[in-house]
Amino acid sequence: MRILSGIQPSGRLHLGNYFGMMKPAIEMQAEGEAYLFIADYHALTTVAEPAALRQGTRDVAIDFLACGLDPERTVFFRQSDVPQVTELTWLLSVVTPMGLLERCHSYKDKIARGISPSHGLFAYPVLMAADILAYQSDVVPVGRDQKQHVEVTRDIAIKFNGRFGDVFKVPEVSIREDVAVVPGIDGQKMSKSYDNHIELFGDEKETRERIMRIVTDSTPLEAPKDTDSCNVFALYRLFGTEEQVESMAADYRRGGYGYGSAKKALFEAMWGALEPFRRKRAELCRDPDYVDAVLRRGAERAAAEADKTLRHARRAVGLD
Ligand code: ADP
Ligand code: TRP
Repeated sequence: MRILSGIQPSGRLHLGNYFGMMKPAIEMQAEGEAYLFIADYHALTTVAEPAALRQGTRDVAIDFLACGLDPERTVFFRQSDVPQVTELTWLLSVVTPMGLLERCHSYKDKIARGISPSHGLFAYPVLMAADILAYQSDVVPVGRDQKQHVEVTRDIAIKFNGRFGDVFKVPEVSIREDVAVVPGIDGQKMSKSYDNHIELFGDEKETRERIMRIVTDSTPLEAPKDTDSCNVFALYRLFGTEEQVESMAADYRRGGYGYGSAKKALFEAMWGALEPFRRKRAELCRDPDYVDAVLRRGAERAAAEADKTLRHARRAVGLD
């Protein structure tokens, strides 16, 4: 089974990104033949600064490798290192109805937020379809916000196959229902656009300060506290061992345990849990050639697959 997903290189990663996207993507390597790429062509629709795109791409590559992505098992590459997908995008474009793209929520949301729409932003789902179809993917695990884009991909594949013969595998979408929404320090969904995030690889002082700023209710120190509605507890649950989490829950129930203590425990648990990743990351930062080599090798493996599909598609439409 071939599983494929992509992530946009947009800024420093936070705990929401880790639990919502990176961890499931890394776990994907145990489930089948995994393809994971850094969607830099897609990021170009919103990132205007070349240096930011370069840096963002490098950071994402390093962070994924630091967090346990195994480049032997996963084909890990940069989208733009396989330019075959842009040609495939054109072949798909000619069978894609305008109405299908006009209905995309993501496009409508971005316009509503004031992004001035380019053709690239509008055609974004067609490029995404090319990403998925180029590698004949079986399953595409994505967050809920990307579900519609995979459905568009299926529609495009069915249309193309109907007109030109069976060229593409029609992929299944897999929504990560079991992944909880990670709360930010203000209790809303953690997001860099709300500036309520805790960076995965922030420095110690800043991380501690952010944790100390997590919003809690005004239950007095001596009173019992509710675990379910507490942002500190929600984050602690992600890092603590089962016994640690149970022990904090007991402290909450008993009372006489303050949020300050819970925050300190959260910091310790988080800092300790991420220590091996930080160490690995520091090593990778000292060895940029290794990171380049991983992406190059991934691109070679990916391009060989994309080439096969593209040749087939060209033949099917009469471009041979
Ligand atoms: P941001 O909201 O910080 O801009 P993105 O929209 O770039 O984050 O999200 C990238 C990925 O991380 C998506 O797959 C998304 O589902 C996941 N993600 C982001 N924030 C969270 C969160 N708070 N909880 C769970 N998953 C999240
Ligand atoms: N659009 C996706 C996102 O923003 C990233 C992406 C690009 C992707 N191409 C893909 C995800 C193909 C899955 C499959 O999260």
